[in-house]
Amino acid sequence: MIGVWTVCLWKQMGKPERVNLIELGPGRGTLMVDLLRGTSNFRNFTESLHIHLVECSPALQKLQHQNLKCTDESSSEKKAVSSLAGTPVHWHATLEEVPSGVPTIIIAHEFYDALPVHQFQKSPRGWCEKMVDVGEDSQFRFVLSPQPTPAALYLVKRCTWATPEEKEKLEHVEISPKSIDLTQEIAKRIGSDGGGALIIDYGKDGIISDSLQAIREHKFVNILDDPGSADLSAYVDFPSIKHSAEEASENVSVHGPMTQSQFLGSLGINFRVDALLQNCDDEQPESLRSGYWRLVGDGEAPFWDEQTPIGMGERYLAMAIVNRNQGTPAPFQ
Ligand SMILES: C[S@@+](CC[C@H](N)C(=O)[O-])C[C@H]1O[C@@H](n2cnc3c(N)ncnc32)[C@H](O)[C@@H]1O
Repeated sequence: MIGVWTVCLWKQMGKPERVNLIELGPGRGTLMVDLLRGTSNFRNFTESLHIHLVECSPALQKLQHQNLKCTDESSSEKKAVSSLAGTPVHWHATLEEVPSGVPTIIIAHEFYDALPVHQFQKSPRGWCEKMVDVGEDSQFRFVLSPQPTPAALYLVKRCTWATPEEKEKLEHVEISPKSIDLTQEIAKRIGSDGGGALIIDYGKDGIISDSLQAIREHKFVNILDDPGSADLSAYVDFPSIKHSAEEASENVSVHGPMTQSQFLGSLGINFRVDALLQNCDDEQPESLRSGYWRLVGDGEAPFWDEQTPIGMGERYLAMAIVNRNQGTPAPFQ
């Protein structure tokens, strides 16, 4: 479905002959593999692509290289060609390293939630940042900063974007300066080079108070327990993304957020699932149906299938940042 979104945007961009398709944090590379397979009938589109994968983990870069069935063009694995669509693929550790000056489509799926956050708490001394300290028992513990910290500048910025109702109730605030800086870089690129970005992640259309969590082997664990051994993730603050993008470039417009269920539904996921169900073998219908339900469901397992994981349809939100010349992207009309 993200392939469908990408082709629609490429058409709105005037079908440029050369496009940088950037994915932020591609994980195992599954989304890009599916996108290339799903769009393979649009030859002009796939032939226009230069894929740029922004990935900080060398181990995942290797896995992406394998899954995209890449052959190296030079001895360095930083540049290769994917045999799935004959597309050049490049790897970078940061977005800044990706060459600019070319129409660009950026996809960030479950990327923003992995970026660092800072937490603030209101105290009799005013707003203090939550810091990590070592207690007398040699265990890590949270304490409040004795004086203002550099991230307080971002707290002030975030509070200026809060609604009056939110401001009244603020006691705890979680902010992600890295997400704000990244969004500004995205907006500047899209504003000057044309194209758009799609951000899909779990988060809120409002200020976030305290959502940081640690997950080890699919279980929630204490954040301070054995640091470095668990995945840390936090809710994505979608209004922050919207305001940062609008502040960074007047040439972009921001659309959404809408729920993942609305996003996929409006792009026609029902028709896609029906088409797949008509052309699959005996084993596949069950996994197609449970996969569909997982993507668009509202958090409850369907009554006929208690094994299906709870749905991501309402907890995940989609937002697009596009160059104003492209008009409104699908399906945000
Ligand atoms: C939760 S995974 C998402 C994977 C994939 N997009 C998906 O939806 O399945 C986060 C990905 O972002 C990468 N990542 C996290 N922080 C990063 C950073 N600061 N710079 C570059 N990549 C990062 C991780 O290595 C991983 O590939």
